[in-house]
Amino acid sequence: MSNLAFGIDLGTGNIKIYFSGKDTITNEKNMIAITKKDNLFAYGDAAFDMFEKAPQNIKVSHPLVNGVIADIGHMTIVLREFVNELTDGRGAGADYYVSVPTDVTEVEKRAFYDLIKDSGLKPRKIMMTEKSLADGLGMGIDVKTSQGVLVVDVGYETTEISVLSLGGIVLSKLIKSGGRKFDDAIRSIVRKEFGLVIGEKTAEQVKVSLGSIEAAQEPAVVFGRDLVTGLPVERAIPTDLIDNTLADTASAIIDNIKLILERTPPELSADIYKHGIYLTGGTASLAHLDELIVKGTALKVNRSESPEECVALGLARIIKDHNFRSIAYSIAEMSEEV
Ligand SMILES: Nc1ncnc2c1ncn2[C@@H]1O[C@H](COP(=O)(O)OP(=O)(O)OP(=O)(O)O)[C@@H](O)[C@H]1O
Ligand SMILES: [Mg+2]
Repeated sequence: MSNLAFGIDLGTGNIKIYFSGKDTITNEKNMIAITKKDNLFAYGDAAFDMFEKAPQNIKVSHPLVNGVIADIGHMTIVLREFVNELTDGRGAGADYYVSVPTDVTEVEKRAFYDLIKDSGLKPRKIMMTEKSLADGLGMGIDVKTSQGVLVVDVGYETTEISVLSLGGIVLSKLIKSGGRKFDDAIRSIVRKEFGLVIGEKTAEQVKVSLGSIEAAQEPAVVFGRDLVTGLPVERAIPTDLIDNTLADTASAIIDNIKLILERTPPELSADIYKHGIYLTGGTASLAHLDELIVKGTALKVNRSESPEECVALGLARIIKDHNFRSIAYSIAEMSEEV
C-alpha cells in the first residue's frame, strides 16, 4: 500500500489540501483568528466569517502575503489544524507535495519546505513542485511532453504568468495583482461615485455575482456607510461602472501577459498561438476577464473548469500517477541549484 500523501497549495486567499487517504480536496480561507493573548480562536472559513466583524481583542489575518509566507507561526497552526482534522490526528509519516511560486527568492521558496519540516507533523518526505506546472497538470495538460504552454493563474493577491515546455519553466513572472485588487477597485469606485464605504466582503460578493447580476439586467445592490452622514445605507450601483473599473485593473495583468509573450522564444510562441492561453486561479471566473484577455492579446483563452482547485488537482495527479513524479523535486536538489 502506498503511503498517505498530501498535496498542498498555500494560496494567499485560500488553502487547498489534496489528501490521498480520502481522495478529496479541502478548500478553505487561508486565515487565522487569534486572541490578544495569542491563543487560536478560529482558522479557515470560520476565521473568515469573523473578518471585518471581530471585536478588538480578536485579530483576523492572512498568514501569506503576496504569495509568500509572511507569518510562519500562524501558517504552521492553520496547516496543522487542517491536517489533524483530515487524519483525526494520525497524520504522522505522510508524504507532502507542496506547490511554490517560481518567481520568488530561494529563501522564500525554502520557507515552504521549512514550514512542513518544522510543523510537528512528522513528514516522511517533502517534495516541491512549481505551481504553474501543477496548474498545467490540473487542467489536464501533459506538461512533460507539451511544448509552449502559457499558464496564467490569477489568484487572490498574485497573478503568475508562466511559459512551460517539456516539464520545465521557460519564463515566469509573479505580479502583485489578483482578486483582491479587483475588490479594492470596486470599493474605491463606490466610495468615489456614491460616497459610500463598503467592506471587502461586500466588494467581493459584488465581483463574484457580477455575471449573474448582468444577466438579470439589474444593478448591484450594496450596503455600506454613507461618508457624509455616517449612517448605514443601501445603494444600487450600475454594473457598467463596475465593468469599467474592473477592466482598468485587468489591464495591468494583460500588459504583463504581453510582456511575457514578447520575451518568449519564437518556436514556443508558435505553440502558444496554436493552443491559446490557459487561464486559471479563482479570479479566472471573473466576468469578462477572459474576453478582455482575448481582446488584449489576440489569443484564444482556455478557462480552467476548477480554477481555484487547479493546483491541488495537479498535485493529486503527481501523487497518484508515478509518471508525473519527476515534476516534483526534493529540497536537496534545490540546494544544489543555489
Ligand atoms: N466567480 C468568481 N468571480 C470572480 N472572482 C472569483 C470567483 N470565484 C472566486 N473568485 C476569486 O478568486 C480569488 C481566490 O482565488 P485562489 O483561491 O486561486 O487564490 P489564492 O490561491 O488563494 O491566491 P494566490 O494564488 O494569489 O496566492 C478570490 O479573490 C475570489 O474572490
Ligand atoms: Mg493560488
